Formats: sequence, C-alpha cells, structure tokens
Amino acid sequence: MGFIEQQQQAADNTEMYWKEQAKRVSWFKAPKNILSTNQYNWTDWFADGELNTSYLALDYHIEQGRGDQVALIYDSPVTNTKQKFTYHELTQLVAKFAYVLQEQGVEKGDRVLIYMPMIPQAAVAMLACARIGAIHSVVFGGFAAKELAVRINDAEPKVVVSASCGVEIEKVIPYKPLLDQAIEIAEHKPSSCIIYQREQLGADIVIGRDYNWQALMQDAKAIAPVPLKSTDPLYILYTSGTTGKPKGVVRDNGGHAVAMLYSMENIYGMKAGDTFWAASDVGWVVGHSYIVYAPLMAGCSTILYEGKPIKTPDAGAFWRACEEYQVDALFSAPTAFRAIAKEDPDGALMKEYDLSQLKRLYLAGERLDPATYHWLKEKTQLPVIDHWWQTETGWAIASTPFSDENNGELMATKAGSAGFPVPGFNVEILDAYGKALPANQQGTVAIKLPMPPGCLATIYQDDERFKSSYLSTHEGYYVTGDGGYIDDAGYLFIMGRTDDVINVAGHRLSTGEMEEVLSGHSAVAECAVIGINDKLKGQVPFGLVVIKNGIDESDDDLTHALKGKVRAEIGAIASLKGLIIVERLPKTRSGKILRKTLRQMIDGQEIDIPSTIDDPQVLDELSPRLAGITS
Ligand code: COA
Ligand code: AMP
Repeated sequence: MGFIEQQQQAADNTEMYWKEQAKRVSWFKAPKNILSTNQYNWTDWFADGELNTSYLALDYHIEQGRGDQVALIYDSPVTNTKQKFTYHELTQLVAKFAYVLQEQGVEKGDRVLIYMPMIPQAAVAMLACARIGAIHSVVFGGFAAKELAVRINDAEPKVVVSASCGVEIEKVIPYKPLLDQAIEIAEHKPSSCIIYQREQLGADIVIGRDYNWQALMQDAKAIAPVPLKSTDPLYILYTSGTTGKPKGVVRDNGGHAVAMLYSMENIYGMKAGDTFWAASDVGWVVGHSYIVYAPLMAGCSTILYEGKPIKTPDAGAFWRACEEYQVDALFSAPTAFRAIAKEDPDGALMKEYDLSQLKRLYLAGERLDPATYHWLKEKTQLPVIDHWWQTETGWAIASTPFSDENNGELMATKAGSAGFPVPGFNVEILDAYGKALPANQQGTVAIKLPMPPGCLATIYQDDERFKSSYLSTHEGYYVTGDGGYIDDAGYLFIMGRTDDVINVAGHRLSTGEMEEVLSGHSAVAECAVIGINDKLKGQVPFGLVVIKNGIDESDDDLTHALKGKVRAEIGAIASLKGLIIVERLPKTRSGKILRKTLRQMIDGQEIDIPSTIDDPQVLDELSPRLAGITS
C-alpha cells in the first residue's frame, strides 16, 4: 500500500487499519475489540487482548529460532567493556531478575523505580518488570536527589533498582548517595532497594533495606512471563511540563507493542537480524522505545552504549561502533552530531571506518538544524531523517516514509522539516481559536483524536492534569505544545515549543521548574528562566533574578549560590548557562513576565514588544546587559 493510501486508511478506517497492524504481535489472546472508549473518556487500544511485552521481546524470538542471535550489545568506552548477550542469555537474566523482584514482594501493578546508568542491568530490570506486570519508572541518571524524590513520591515504588555508580567520560558519579538522600527526602519509602555493585565504585548498603543485585541473582530461578491485559500499564515515564511537578506519562502494553513493531518496519525499515542503534539513554523515551523494547520485539540486535559522541575517546566514537557492530540504522540527537561536527569538521575520523552497512541516520529530540542536516548528508552520503516525537507519543508523529509512490524507497527529505505525519497521527495546524490553518501558516501543532496505539494512556494519578494539559485547549484535539507549519508539499516543520519547556542537548527541561528552585532561595524576590540559543546544545537555560532589598551578599556570591542550587536540586544537565542579577524584569500591565521578549533580546532577534507592556523603559535598562550573551 502506498504511504498516502496508508495515511488515508488510518484516518478514515482507523479500526480496520490498526486491526491489521496488530497482527504483527504474537498475542496470548488476540484482540477483537480494537478501539474503545474507557471510563475516563479516553481511547483504549485492543482492550480485550492479552500479551506480555517481555515475552515478545525475548522468549518469542527463542521460539522463532533466534535464541543464539545477539540481542543486546553493551559497549562502554568509559569502562573499557564490551559484552554481547544472545536472546537466550538475556531471557535467562530477565527471567531470574523477575524472580528476584517477586521475592522482594513485587506484584502485578506495583511500581518499581529504576535509577541506573547505561548498563545492561537497566534493560534487564525494565524487561523483568514487564515480565511480571510490575510498572517500571526509569529516572534518568543525570537527575539529582530532589528530582528523584519527587518521582519516588509520585510513583510510590515498592522497590528501587539502582547501581553503585555511573561513569561520565572519566568522572565516576556515585549514584547510591543520591538515592539514599532521595529516599530520606521523600515521604514515600520503598520497602527495598536492589543495588548493582559496579567495580569502579562500590556502594554502602543499608542493612534491612538494601540488597546486592549480584547476591540476589545467585539463587534466583527463571520465571515465565505472565499474561497481561493490553491496557495494563507497562511503564510510567516522567517528563517535564510547565510546572515544577513532572508529568508521569503512562504507557499501556498492547498499543505500545503494536506501535513498536509497526514503527520498526515502517519508519526504520528494520527486520529481524538487523542491528539497530539508538545512541540515547534508557532514562528517556528514545531509550525505552528504541534501545530496549522495539528492537528486541523486532528481533534485532540493539546497542546499549555507555559513552558520549565525543571524548570517549574522540569524535569517531559513533562511527567506530557502527563499523564494529555492523549497524544498519543509527538514531541520535542533533546535538550529538553537532558535537561531532565541531570536533571533526571534515569528517576525517569518519573516513577511518567502514560504514558500508549503515543505511540511514535518524535524528530526534530537537529540531535538526539545516546546517547539521547538510553536514551529515554530505559527509555520510546517507539519508538523514529528522523525525519528531515526544515522551507522550512514545514513537514518531512525523518522519520520512518508505513509499510505494517512490518504488518502496524513502521519500525525499527536506532540510528543516521532520517529514510527513506518520499514518495514524492526524496532524493539523491550528490558530488560537482552534481553526485549521492553510499551508505555510505557522500555528499550534495538534493531533486530531483519536491518537494511534502506543500513545499516553494518562498522567499517572492525575487524569485531570492529563485533560487540562493536552485535551482541553481545542476540543477533539491533542495539543502537542509545539508550534510549526505544513508546507505546500505536505512537509511538516516543527519550529519549537509554545510553552515553558526547553530542549537542552536533547534533554527536555522545564524553565518553570528552574524558576521554582531559584525562587526557593531566601534572597530572591522574583526571577525568570528562559531558553536561549546555543550552538552545541540547541538551547541552554539562562536566569534573570531580582534580589530582595536589604540582602548583604555580593552579586557574585549570590550568582554562584543560585547556579549551584539549580544544579544540586535538578541536576547537572540543567546547569544554567548564565545568571544575572537585575533591578527589574519586563512585565505586562497584568504582571506577566515578558520571557519571549527577553529571549529575543538575548538571541539578537527582532523584538516583539507587546502593547500591554507595563514600562518599556525596563527593556532599555536591560538591553546593554543582554547584548552579546548568545555568542
Ligand atoms: N548521569 C550523571 N550525570 C550526567 C548524566 C548521567 N546520566 N548525563 C549527563 N550528566 C552530567 C554531565 O556529566 C555534565 O556534568 P558537568 O556539568 O559536571 O560536566 C552535565 O550533566 C551536562 O552533560 P551533557 O548534557 O551530556 O553535556 P556535555 O557538555 O557533557 O556533552 C554532548 C555535550 C552534546 C556531547 C552531550 O550532551 C550529548 O551526548 N548529548 C546527546 C543527548 C542525547 O542523546 N539525548 C537523547 C535524546 S534522543
Ligand atoms: P521529549 O518528550 O523529551 O522527547 O521531548 C519532546 C519535545 O522535543 C517535542 O515536543 C519537541 O519540542 C522536541 N522535539 C523532539 N523531536 C523533534 C524534532 N525532530 N524536531 C523538532 N522538535 C523536536
């Protein structure tokens, strides 16, 4: 079927289309009920189907004769380790860790929080939860104790799985003290913690609460996957919203399995036996979907890479691994390739490796800027595919499809565009009143309901927030939070967030949350945090702070303390690029801080001064201080 025909079918004959796609899944009980509305007035996919995600990712392949094929490759330049796990071996580990969890009292529906570096045990823990119907919640290792505590309080895990340390280039980061601190701050206390002890740095154990992973695994027996309902949650993944409280995106099992298998074939062109590498982190949605679940469900070999695009040891790191593991498709964030291009502008390191197996490059996490798109295309001579998605959707909303209209080949890509809406995502550009806009006009990017399988089921324990965040602005639509337009030829251009969320090196962060942290300092009267342009990271956070009268501390000391506070409470990934202390912030007459105007001033763009500005003089005062910050 041609791509346009598929888009049409998915839109007009939604149930029939997804009924057909669901045949890719080896269900324990095949669904008859394809699309239904649940008690919260939201879409359930395949409600009467039964399956197990861990079975689909592991045991199923052994049954298909792929037991000796490599399932997972662990490549860790930071610890000089390379390890391969066949489907047999990975299944054994997962089946035993599922037993370990059960022995710790974990039952179906219980939450297990996973706070781990990029080691195979992170994937094992996720798949073990899926095996027994426990709901995992992976927290990115770069988050500090307070952020971890917020997630512990929200998810209320029975068990936390962690590791003694992470390794960031040459720095060993002790994870366990962060976990101990988080549990101390949190109101909810997990009943036990399972700690994988790494040789780089061991962790102290709290007797009666903490257990060594290695010790528990010694006596573990392998257990079988249990049948689960399609709508049973597989995981909760927290993502930044506009406030300090992150949103716990809930993903189901059935819709997710269908979406993962569908996307591996239709978006990534992968088949069993291929090697797929998503150079991301298991703490982010890309890691959930395309390091762990989708490649394994599709019978591919997946790579879990504990390293960086540069400095581990150099900007040839990605290309080295592509050659070594005969990677068929590589997926990473634009910022990673900007870092590579900066260190190796002529692609000299790239030329040292045989990349003949590599077929396509996929990018997401932020807009692929045209300069990086052209650089990658020219240097690799490969198709470079920018595709757009979010934690909430779990898979790409827009991408460049293979198409019968183009003899089964990829359709042409366009610099700056994320391609075309994927079948199932009915993307429209709306104006402020919810009216669809014509081609080339920029507006809110929204998805006409229903969303396809695999998208969020709700926000964990906050159905109201789910509705108010995404569904209440324009009736019948899911509002993505991104702005953009569709051109005459149907290409979608995503131009950036319309809310207070920013993307820093492909990490999604909330400026509202950073403002809350700054406001928590006793010297701060008010503040604004904005995302400003950065050549490497896309965006970086920048703070402006007004200090209360009568504070004795010097501006330098305060600046240092405030930057440190954000780093300590949210994490190193949220480090403010800069912070200045100012007399006043520009505001509207109703008191709203003009963040967009500030951003435009710093980025040296044309400035929109709203007619509602309270005192335009503030902008004149700030102007010399803001000039030249983005360089
Ligand atoms: N655990 C602990 N700390 C972490 C961490 C983790 N998992 N990940 C990042 N950090 C820390 C880093 O050590 C660094 O700390 P420092 O300020 O003390 O040096 C800080 O967070 C910022 O790290 P990072 O964002 O990685 O910036 P960088 O300057 O070290 O590296 C890049 C720049 C572009 C190489 C890097 O950001 C990168 O590889 N980005 C790709 C991101 C990605 O794949 N995103 C997934 C989206 S698909
Ligand atoms: P996350 O939920 O962390 O995956 O972040 C999702 C957000 O990242 C989206 O809402 C976009 O703002 C941005 N994003 C992700 N991929 C792209 C892309 N290909 N083009 C533009 N923005 C993107």
